Amino acid sequence: MTAPASLCEPCVILVFGATGDLARRKIFPALLALHRRGFLHARTPVVAVSRRPTSVADLLAGLQPEDGGGDAQALHAFAASVRCIVFDHTEATLPAFVAAVDDVARERGAGAARAVYFALPADAFEPTAALLVKGGLFQGDGWRRLCFEKPFGHDLASARELNAKITRHFDESSIYRIDHYLGKELVRNLMVMRFANPLFGQIWNREFIDHVQVTIAETLGVEGRAGYYEKAGAVRDMLQNHLMQVLALAAMEPPKALDADSVRDAMVEVVRQLVPPSDGDFVLGQFAPGEAGGRPVPGYRAEPGVHPASDTETFVAVRACIDNPRWQGVPFYLRTGKRMGRRLAEANIVLRAQPGTLFRADRAVEGEPGPNVISIRIQPYEGISVEFTVKAPGEGLRLETAVMEHCHHCVYGLDTVEAYEILLHEFLAGDQTLFTRWDFVEASWRWVDAITAARDGQAAAFPNYAAGTSGPAQVEGLLGGGRDWIVSRDILS
Ligand SMILES: NC(=O)c1ccc[n+]([C@@H]2O[C@H](COP(=O)([O-])OP(=O)(O)OC[C@H]3O[C@@H](n4cnc5c(N)ncnc54)[C@H](OP(=O)(O)O)[C@@H]3O)[C@@H](O)[C@H]2O)c1
Repeated sequence: MTAPASLCEPCVILVFGATGDLARRKIFPALLALHRRGFLHARTPVVAVSRRPTSVADLLAGLQPEDGGGDAQALHAFAASVRCIVFDHTEATLPAFVAAVDDVARERGAGAARAVYFALPADAFEPTAALLVKGGLFQGDGWRRLCFEKPFGHDLASARELNAKITRHFDESSIYRIDHYLGKELVRNLMVMRFANPLFGQIWNREFIDHVQVTIAETLGVEGRAGYYEKAGAVRDMLQNHLMQVLALAAMEPPKALDADSVRDAMVEVVRQLVPPSDGDFVLGQFAPGEAGGRPVPGYRAEPGVHPASDTETFVAVRACIDNPRWQGVPFYLRTGKRMGRRLAEANIVLRAQPGTLFRADRAVEGEPGPNVISIRIQPYEGISVEFTVKAPGEGLRLETAVMEHCHHCVYGLDTVEAYEILLHEFLAGDQTLFTRWDFVEASWRWVDAITAARDGQAAAFPNYAAGTSGPAQVEGLLGGGRDWIVSRDILS
């Protein structure tokens, strides 16, 4: 990993899909933030590429600070580095497009390096990359880097096909497959927590850990992205990428070093060791009408753009088992859903009970020792907490659960650095550690495809949970062994 963050070499940054939701909400704000922090080189222009005409003012609308102070100056300076170029993605206009980019590079003194961000639908990735090669965008001796949004492919077969086409033109060292979860502070903290602290590192195995739960719950519905979500569903949209990344970081063996290949070697190894899920290992769901934020909301099938008989899943919970000596017999439960009761993302590590029965009711003990739980809260209130049993004050022996808390956002502030800002910096700095290597994509699709292949049996029961709840009732049965789903304390309550 590049540390500390530093000024990136000059290059031309091209953002394809500049008029899209992602570019507006995440990419341009992250580039502006990098500019403000002095990490974008003064000679680096940003080229916003779109099929429809747009303007710098339009793309940056909403980023205008209210105070008109220093931030306004930074925005003004950043806006001066942005050029909008319309490109209809045809061969006829390709020479003019490449010439326009070269002009911008010359005008700014940016040199021959090119960083291309594909904020495009996945089916436009390869045709666009192939056109750029054909048009000579990457001629010259500068480096070339391409950043592809997730999901990379729709299943194992389509991901392989996409990868084969892209690697005809570019080798793996130029390809950056982004998964913004890898840029989240508490996800990145997992490695530090595990491998820098004997307190956690020594107990991170089957001897001490009973099971692990990873939850990513959203309160939103599809929010105008039905065209994409109808084809994706929760398994492809969240499980194959975000949940698999968190699982890999929580379960991997210590990497040999901190370079990109060592870290990614360790991450892919654990995904390869996942036992293929069978029918009883997962529960799918789709939300029915219910409540969100105290207001009634329609069911998934009544959301704009969704087919009225859609069988797309909006929820998945799965029991993942890892076949290696560290994790034999320790289930990892992964779950995600839309229109859940509370928005959160967290990993809960549940330790085995202390052997022995010293604290029992027949010894006049009130209460019983609860499980020790290590919670890594990824969002919204970032932090790490440990639950353990203490004696309550006063006479007698009453047991209670206490919490040790590292409140990340109290110390460092909320959303200190946005994930996209971290990842764009790493992209421009040429560090691939936080980007998904092809073998990880391949191994995760292979595992996830077993779920999508067997999904029809469960889809017949959709919709099967009310909006605003914690998912289908069958999810309770997935845990077994007297375990309960855990949601960490709402630390603001
Ligand atoms: N939005 C998110 O929060 C989010 C989160 C994670 C990943 N992603 C991924 O990011 C990518 C972009 O998502 P988005 O939400 O920004 O999508 P979007 O709002 O639909 O925008 C897509 C952009 O791509 C352009 N485009 C569409 N089809 C094209 C084609 N065949 N050739 C060239 N340009 C085309 C659109 O241009 P026109 O305006 O001309 O149609 C638009 O600028 C997708 O791969 C998505 O899976 C998005």
